[in-house]
Amino acid sequence: MHTSSHEKLAAFVTTYLRDFRDQSLTILDVGSQVVADQPLSYKPLFNAPAWTYTGLDVEAGLNVDVVPANDYRWDELGADSFDVVVSGQAFEHIPFFWATAFEIGRVLRPGGVAVITAPGRGPQHRFPVDCWRFHDDGFEAIADYLGFEVLDVFTEWGRNMWEETILVMRKPVWSPAERNRFATRLWHQRALSAGFSEPDPGSLPDPTSGPMLDEGEPPNPSQLRNLVGGPFTEQLEHLRVQAIEAQRIRREAAKPLHVRLIHKGVRRRLVNFLEPPAPFVWDEDLD
Ligand SMILES: C[S@@+](CC[C@H](N)C(=O)[O-])C[C@H]1O[C@@H](n2cnc3c(N)ncnc32)[C@H](O)[C@@H]1O
Repeated sequence: MHTSSHEKLAAFVTTYLRDFRDQSLTILDVGSQVVADQPLSYKPLFNAPAWTYTGLDVEAGLNVDVVPANDYRWDELGADSFDVVVSGQAFEHIPFFWATAFEIGRVLRPGGVAVITAPGRGPQHRFPVDCWRFHDDGFEAIADYLGFEVLDVFTEWGRNMWEETILVMRKPVWSPAERNRFATRLWHQRALSAGFSEPDPGSLPDPTSGPMLDEGEPPNPSQLRNLVGGPFTEQLEHLRVQAIEAQRIRREAAKPLHVRLIHKGVRRRLVNFLEPPAPFVWDEDLD
């Protein structure tokens, strides 16, 4: 995980969850694996004694508690069972991310929130594939597709090579009719993605069986149901501006060092080549 991503999720916890540290919350991390060369994890951000953290990934590994038998159908997890779903740097690796979004919608409790971050640009990095980049309008479209409320959505334009986008969306506390509508759309979504990652073709949904309607008692809404968006976006903009300013200062300070280290002749050629007109971006801008 990139430090900029960890920093954003830490800001999410501080801004959104600081008043809930003593209340029991269940947290699901989608794409939770700690991968090679990236030791950071979101887990320590959710270590309040009253909180329970579960890591889900399609690969078994470090920081993974659940590996669903089907990438797009998490039968191992109950509906309406998590107050918070977090996902970082996973959505760009999910071929059919809209199907994953529907599973996130299913497992969230009414009034629960999902916080998803993924790069807006940056080089290819496969886990095991690298399919997508996301901007604020794209993440807002995911929330619309689910019928969720957008609390905050933000792209870190110009910060670094990843220009990550982050979305905070809430599952509404729906009426029974609205819950059934979601259940019907989920059923169709599952039927459409069936076959793409099914290990056992026998488990494909039967399109003639019709959608399963959710006729049980609606579960108790999450305690997070009244959270208000806005301050988090302000905080993110503050972090973005601070980071860009810190880069500018580092770049200014680093230039003489680079110049001193380079042989005079090479330096002359480099300077002639770079200035003017091409602005040069040093490696340290790419965190
Ligand atoms: C770049 S790693 C990010 C891991 C961690 N969240 C971080 O920020 O360091 C992407 C992770 O997404 C997982 N992944 C890929 N496809 C997935 C899917 N369909 N559902 C859940 N996780 C998936 C990969 O196995 C991998 O562990």
